[in-house]
Amino acid sequence: MFNNTAIQGNAFYSMDFNKIKYVSNGIFCVSNEGYIDEVYEEDHKDYDLIRFKYLKSGKLRILSDSEVMLPGFVDLHIHASQWPQAGTALDRPLETWLGEYTFPLESRFKDLVFANEVYLDVINTTLTHGTTTAMYFATVDRESSILLAGLCGESGQRGLVGKVVMDDPSSNSDFYRDASPEEAVYETEKFINEVLKIQNTYKQKIYPVVTPRFIPSCTPKALEGLGMLARKYDVHVQTHCSESDWAHQFVKEKYGVNDAKALDNFGLITEKTVIAHAPFLEPDDLKIIAGKKTSIAHSPLSNAYFANSVLPLKDFRSKGVNVGMATDISGGYSPSMYQSIRQAVISSRMLQEGVNPSLPRDERGRPCSSITINNAFYSATVAGGIALNLPIGKLEKGYSFDVQIINMENNIPRFYKEKNPEDLLHKILLLSESSNIKEVWVQGCRVK
Ligand code: GUN
Ligand code: FE
Repeated sequence: MFNNTAIQGNAFYSMDFNKIKYVSNGIFCVSNEGYIDEVYEEDHKDYDLIRFKYLKSGKLRILSDSEVMLPGFVDLHIHASQWPQAGTALDRPLETWLGEYTFPLESRFKDLVFANEVYLDVINTTLTHGTTTAMYFATVDRESSILLAGLCGESGQRGLVGKVVMDDPSSNSDFYRDASPEEAVYETEKFINEVLKIQNTYKQKIYPVVTPRFIPSCTPKALEGLGMLARKYDVHVQTHCSESDWAHQFVKEKYGVNDAKALDNFGLITEKTVIAHAPFLEPDDLKIIAGKKTSIAHSPLSNAYFANSVLPLKDFRSKGVNVGMATDISGGYSPSMYQSIRQAVISSRMLQEGVNPSLPRDERGRPCSSITINNAFYSATVAGGIALNLPIGKLEKGYSFDVQIINMENNIPRFYKEKNPEDLLHKILLLSESSNIKEVWVQGCRVK
């Protein structure tokens, strides 16, 4: 079969947590369905033949020497509805920030005109920053949450979207919550069905996500109902988990167990579950999470403000837990996964070295904690695909063609020759601005 289109050029992607694959002048063949059919490297015996065939049919796009392809990023945790307040009020503690800023803002999304404007803007902004797949929290309101899913579909972004559940009258104000546990579950089921109805309308697809905000905001009855829906429809689940001292303690006191155990008891810890933050997971929690193949969404910028700690990413991985990356707009202020990658590396180095200069050096930090840029790049791409059970994050045969084409002419110094290709990747990851992201492709379609 002759393929739809092909792009010839240099590319980087993660092979595994440590290893980067550099493809020099490869030909990436993309099927009509938007998957990578084949990658021909320069030493392939058919390279010249394939190149000639595509050239002749006018379907070969050739990138210049100053352009390079990277996989699109997978943002595993982002509150689309908090985009208007990105960059504000981060000096408040989490619980105050939620009550004084976040809930009043989220309650405004019943207004579909406002919702439409904000959601389109956040989708366009993340797409132009290279995010090809995003797992979104919307709000409690079902209709505008469906709107967000549809807008992702129309904009060409692979959106996984959740109508937020927060029904407990003892922890939520009347102006912004589900009316009852029954209503929360009913509305969620309706949301799932409506999104599933339009799921395949879009080439890259959209997905409904069961979304209890976090245990402190939900009644046991609602959590139980949501666990049943997750099982019935085999859909993704997302929630906040063991994020801060306050949130972690709250759950311990209410249920006598940690978040992970409580969520598991409600049927909410599955292979398709993404738990946001989770720095306070304890050894027994890690066993549950690893056993169920549940993934963590690591949001290092947000953690610097709200989490009272740094996620020991390397340690959790060594216990078998997959850790992807996220922005957590607006707990994190930046819509760019580049910022998440950079902060993840910085935070991990501070965790390893320690931050209190009054302590002796060997008491200051947590050994073996620092992650490399390669590790962070893996988390923002491949680990995201693993977390969502989708063929995304790599530029290999069988994966969706989700790509950002970086132009290195501005912002990235090219005055001397890098010793090896990986040096160039590191420059791109640390120095790129959104203006360097020249094109974005999702499922074989150009969206920027
Ligand atoms: N915990 C419960 N809700 C939220 C939220 O919106 N953001 C963050 N960072 N943590 C939460
Ligand atoms: Fe969050």
